[in-house]
Amino acid sequence: MSILAPDEVDTPEILKPELSAAQIAARERVYATPLEELDPADPAPFASEQMWWKFERLRAVAPVHYTSVEHTQHDAYWSITRWDDIIAIDTDSVNFTNETPASMLIPGSSPALIRLAGPGATPEQIKAVEDRGGGSLLSMDPPSHGIHRGAVAEGVSPAALADFEPLIRERIGGILDGLPIGEEFDWVDLVSKDLTAMTLATLFNYPQEKRRQLTHWSDVLTTLPAPGRIVETIEEKDRISLEFEAEMFQLLEQRKSEPAATDFISLMAHSPHVKDFSQSEIRGDIGVLLIGGNDTTRNTLSGSVYALDRFPDQAAKLYANPKLIPSMVSETIRWQTPLSHMMRRANHDMEFRGQQMRKGDKIALWYVSGNRDDSKLDRPNEYIVDRKNPRQHLSFGFGIHRCLGNRLAELQLRLTWEEILKRFPKIQVVGEPERTFSNFVKGYESMTVVIPRRH
Ligand code: HEM
Repeated sequence: MSILAPDEVDTPEILKPELSAAQIAARERVYATPLEELDPADPAPFASEQMWWKFERLRAVAPVHYTSVEHTQHDAYWSITRWDDIIAIDTDSVNFTNETPASMLIPGSSPALIRLAGPGATPEQIKAVEDRGGGSLLSMDPPSHGIHRGAVAEGVSPAALADFEPLIRERIGGILDGLPIGEEFDWVDLVSKDLTAMTLATLFNYPQEKRRQLTHWSDVLTTLPAPGRIVETIEEKDRISLEFEAEMFQLLEQRKSEPAATDFISLMAHSPHVKDFSQSEIRGDIGVLLIGGNDTTRNTLSGSVYALDRFPDQAAKLYANPKLIPSMVSETIRWQTPLSHMMRRANHDMEFRGQQMRKGDKIALWYVSGNRDDSKLDRPNEYIVDRKNPRQHLSFGFGIHRCLGNRLAELQLRLTWEEILKRFPKIQVVGEPERTFSNFVKGYESMTVVIPRRH
């Protein structure tokens, strides 16, 4: 089978790493599809890492691309795939808006192209899911956005992070010391999930022994109910979401009577602005803090183990020079891009890069594609732990919604790798990990590893 790049693409740089037959076939299928039928938001190719070819093609020939409702299970949407265009829209909160109708699957979730209800859902079921939507700071424009963000920002200020650092490091050490040596285990479950839950519990000042409850709530809030998933029905999802809400509101009340502190719940309890927030906004803000800090860091940590296994020359560089940890962390955040996209809407009818957008149109900013734009980045498909300017990536977004927890995420990953290098000479990935079936969260459901015994 030919692996020559189709005529449209001049530089088949992405082909340099060895491609499997399945990837070659997937790429050929993408190039054989009429452009207007391409649906970059189809979740299935994300689970098999076959989405790259659509983005490669769109960046080259249709960087502002429209998928109509006939060709997607979502609403119609625009795809923005080049670095510069993503930044142009992400930093323009006048022409583009984050405010979405209450049409999100996740209460208070990020504006993303997440399907509202499972395939084949009836209009009543879709409406039932829509009715459960709610605002959060991520789905607000100025001035509300600044007020909501300001109410909790201190929780991840440099001073707060400096306070948390010794505690987070100690807890990471505890988790790593409990790992089995010389036998297979699931890194996602035993390390990535637990570590992230531990940090979330610290940020919420939530009992450590109940930390996995936070992970469970976050997973439930971001899961589409379907048979076989962690929630099977909308009623079950509702029941668990209400439990989360009740517990958070109870904590909020409790913190009001305690001295002010820098955990997120205390910051909200003592903020002079929160009394003006609606119940669904408070729930939304707490939800976004929980979800924002959960999947993202978890999947970056799993991604770092996977990437170092697949690029052994880079692992050798890192193990020989632990000073590379901060740059390796940023490189992993770019390479993994744990959130594939964020969504905006056009604020009015307009022309953007020669395309006619209509007021209210959905626009997906594909960070996952911008991070592979070779007009901006040198050898973007490669994982390079000593890359020049490693913090130059799109994974945290840009503009006013730029990730609030970005420094915290970097801190957590840096501390984890500092503690890993002190303990383990290698972490070996066994087989291929199971990847997440989602066009939004780009990550790993499970990844079997072995930490070899020291000789
Ligand atoms: C590697 C880890 C992470 C990645 C890749 C990531 C990515 C993102 C992205 C892409 C956005 C939206 C940016 C935009 O729309 O312009 C965002 C927003 C946000 N993130 Fe993160 N995130 C990470 C970790 C965290 C952590 C640890 C927290 C913990 C608190 C967090 C909290 C938030 C919040 C609250 C927002 C909303 C900010 C706003 O609307 O002003 N994130 N993040």
